[in-house]
Amino acid sequence: MTKPILLNVNGVGHELRVDLDTPLLYTLRNDCGLNGPKYGCGLGACGACTVLIDQTAARACVVPTGQAQGHKVVTLEGLGTPELLSDVQLAFLDTQAAQCGYCLNGMVMTATALLHRVPDPTEAQIRNEFKGNLCRCGTHLEILSAVRLVVQRRLRQGA
Ligand code: FES
Repeated sequence: MTKPILLNVNGVGHELRVDLDTPLLYTLRNDCGLNGPKYGCGLGACGACTVLIDQTAARACVVPTGQAQGHKVVTLEGLGTPELLSDVQLAFLDTQAAQCGYCLNGMVMTATALLHRVPDPTEAQIRNEFKGNLCRCGTHLEILSAVRLVVQRRLRQGA
């Protein structure tokens, strides 16, 4: 049964009527028109659908929409714009960390969450964070380089 719901996504309030058990991924894509999060496995196992909920990485395919009420949801679209990318997005571009791009949403969101929680992560922490993010193209090394590049740039800027 659908119910009215107010979702805060990328700083914008979305008044929607949805079944509260609907996976957040479907609500974001179908009702909010945000296609950054991708459908990969639908089981919480690949990371393609990753969004931030209160700055923590979450698998939108297994989070019921009702659980996101009262929290701040951020999707890839909320990180930056094509004209002004976030520093994480820019580092992924600079290290050519994308091939087909399908996993990219999850990789960028996971990196963003990690660097929010741990500003200067160890190599082991970086690798551990991405254990659940699958990339069929094999760009994991570039993805790790992108994360290190963000850290270097932030340290240089004293951020
Ligand atoms: Fe959500 Fe794979 S689609 S983890």
